[in-house]
Amino acid sequence: MGLARNALIAASQSRWLREHAMRWRFVRRASRRFLPGERYEDALAAASELAELGITSMLSRVGENITNAAEAEAVTDHYITVIGAMWAAGLEPSLSVKPTQLGLDFDAGLCERNLDRIFKAAQYPNLIPSEQAPLSRTQGGTMGADPSRKSPPTVGAYIKRGIIWIDMESSAYVDRTLELYRRISARHSYTGICLQSYLRRTPADIDSLIPHLAVIRLVKGAYREPPSIAFPDKRDVDEAYFALADKLLSKPALDADVRTAFATHDPIMIERIVQLAKSRGQGRLGTNIGFQMLYGIRRDLQRQLAADGWPVSVLISYGTYWFPWYMRRLAERPANVWFVLKNLFG
Ligand code: FDA
Repeated sequence: MGLARNALIAASQSRWLREHAMRWRFVRRASRRFLPGERYEDALAAASELAELGITSMLSRVGENITNAAEAEAVTDHYITVIGAMWAAGLEPSLSVKPTQLGLDFDAGLCERNLDRIFKAAQYPNLIPSEQAPLSRTQGGTMGADPSRKSPPTVGAYIKRGIIWIDMESSAYVDRTLELYRRISARHSYTGICLQSYLRRTPADIDSLIPHLAVIRLVKGAYREPPSIAFPDKRDVDEAYFALADKLLSKPALDADVRTAFATHDPIMIERIVQLAKSRGQGRLGTNIGFQMLYGIRRDLQRQLAADGWPVSVLISYGTYWFPWYMRRLAERPANVWFVLKNLFG
């Protein structure tokens, strides 16, 4: 791992820096490139703009590791409000949630119940209490309600439609998060799980998910992990990513109707995957794959893929606890620190 990346990840964990830097105007200004604002309404406005380009959005409130039930329930209530607001804005409700925000750290059962509440809201937005969703539409929703897993959402449409994604946090949470996904996806089709190519265990995790109509978001991985658990060398992480893409586009996976969102901004990797997908009979629309990126990163590529007809979805983060999240984005590309400095002098 590079020195700059290490320093930025360390900065993301510094309480002092978080408390001070969040008040510095030039840092706030620079962060707007990746985070349209602190309120969910800011994220919603950005999502509506992307919808005009045929790009769907997933909303995610920054922050993790909630430590008590009341806070976890407050986050759940918040997400239910956001679902109502997405319906009201004419957008398919789609979220990307961190299990530790919903209570995974201290009560896996509570976390699961909170996720169920989120699914219920997405499925029946007309039941969201009006004080929680002042603008909620009156008609019922279309997602989540899949009492029979015999008819899962098929083809690339699953990425175009709303879906609740379960993020993957650091390696300490992988077993618990996979267990959560297995239980939740047995009840709700419109859910997907994030897997990280830097983890040595991920090929085996994919093998175990393939028979279960899995919906997978493949990322490279954003946390600091020891070499015994994750590949330390970026080249190995990249090659692991492509090897996993190959597995997810293999005949057994496609026959099992595994659907994959390749979440990366890496243009070379995307091109390799496009070629691989085509060689496996996966064209553009009507395929089992799609692409995902983060708000503000490689907008050109997002637009180009959407214009080419691939399902594209963008994760839009918002919230007041943005500093650690923002530092992790800088760590992914330390060259972006120049952008922060430009805002200091510009
Ligand atoms: P990589 O870091 O290899 O960079 C390749 C190229 O992409 C760069 O050369 C540059 O061109 C471009 N690029 C990448 N980052 C950039 C930036 N910040 N600014 C400008 N250009 C940039 N991780 C995790 O551990 N758990 C999770 O749940 C998720 N969820 C998630 C959802 C979505 C939709 C995305 C897109 C990503 C995640 N991630 C994640 C983050 C992921 O693990 C990874 O850290 C980032 O996507 C960066 O890796 P890339 O594959 O994009 O490319």
